[in-house]
Amino acid sequence: MQSVGYWGVRIGMGAAVELNATRGAPHGASEVPWWRTSFGQEEIQRLQEAIRAEHISQGPVTAQFETRMAEALHVPYAVATTSGSVALLMALMALGVGRDDEVILPNRTFIATAHAVLLAGASVVLVDVRPDIPVMDISRLRQKITPRTKAIIPVHLNGRAVDLEAVQSVAREYHLHVIEDACQALFSRSAAGFLGTQSDAGCFSLGMNKLMSTGQGGLIVTRNPETYERLKLIRSHGVTDTFVATYRQIGCNFKFTDLMASVGLVQLTRVPARIAHVTAIYSKYTAAEMPFLRWIPVEVSKGELPLYAEARCRDRKDLVEFLGSQGIQTRPFLPDLHLSPHLHNGGVFPNSKPFGEEGLYLPCGPEQPLENIDRVIEALRLYGRRSCGSSSWGRQNSPSAVPVPL
Ligand SMILES: Cc1ncc(COP(=O)(O)O)c(C=O)c1O
Repeated sequence: MQSVGYWGVRIGMGAAVELNATRGAPHGASEVPWWRTSFGQEEIQRLQEAIRAEHISQGPVTAQFETRMAEALHVPYAVATTSGSVALLMALMALGVGRDDEVILPNRTFIATAHAVLLAGASVVLVDVRPDIPVMDISRLRQKITPRTKAIIPVHLNGRAVDLEAVQSVAREYHLHVIEDACQALFSRSAAGFLGTQSDAGCFSLGMNKLMSTGQGGLIVTRNPETYERLKLIRSHGVTDTFVATYRQIGCNFKFTDLMASVGLVQLTRVPARIAHVTAIYSKYTAAEMPFLRWIPVEVSKGELPLYAEARCRDRKDLVEFLGSQGIQTRPFLPDLHLSPHLHNGGVFPNSKPFGEEGLYLPCGPEQPLENIDRVIEALRLYGRRSCGSSSWGRQNSPSAVPVPL
């Protein structure tokens, strides 16, 4: 069975799941998919138990999953829903963000962050990212605030912590809500705790290319009991009791299912091993010096979790083609948001541009064998020898090195 993911890839379903393509690798070697995760016997067993107990739609297994996720993230409340995209929409709705409001978010994120704002009826205001890493440049935040600004969405892209203290100090000054988009940052940490847990609401994705997955799925966490109650109402057409329905407010069917929760409960037990594995992949890659490649740093020593292997290459097209010829999949970075006609509303984004034009994902994922990473590094070395440093940056920066502005 196959399905198509947001990232424009075919997803082969099986015990081990690859976001794969069918181009052949040379010399009969198997293809290295850009992402690899897995679902095992335990998930199958748990699903069977749920079906036998007739726990199919949102019910007791979902409640158990939410409790476990809240415990694991050290928050009082967690609400499961259909996707990270919907989690963001629900958080905006729960905080009363809507028509005539503006929401500030970074120019580099998955477009779901912006679409949630538009679907809530508000306007998107884009802010540029830092020159060294693709997260919101807080020093540019104040100049984007208008009397209509209602919320800020910092995005912890690839587990990188946005400086939340700085965001919250601006938010306090202007009475704004902060919703953390931690869809790429589940179990990533800063000194203050888990990313996604320090603001009015935090949103996570449980999609296929995440640390743990329920196929599709999302989670909103909050420390505020009123927000929690509103989130539950929004998830269920504004009713608390589906037998004696009183329509208390606008909502929709954003419900999770016990089948997804069954998978999620097992996937959660895999998280410690997966954290170690994705960190090992990152270390392997970044230890490899490649003059034509610049690894985009993640502060692993501070608890940040590098979900993806992200790098920049000045001649990205050439590198992608070469790796493809070696049976190695890559993914180019998604475009800057301001390039979408329905999102561009002025402003310049000089720091975002190089990430959008040069960024790429190399093979990674919680179940990507480390031997595959060795194969990718070998192919990169071969490319380096062949390209004779034509797209070289000179001295390679390591993630711990001071970033060199381009
Ligand atoms: C930063 C970011 N925000 C939001 C989303 C949306 O999550 P989902 O795909 O679960 O809807 C994603 C998905 O990858 C994401 O990367």
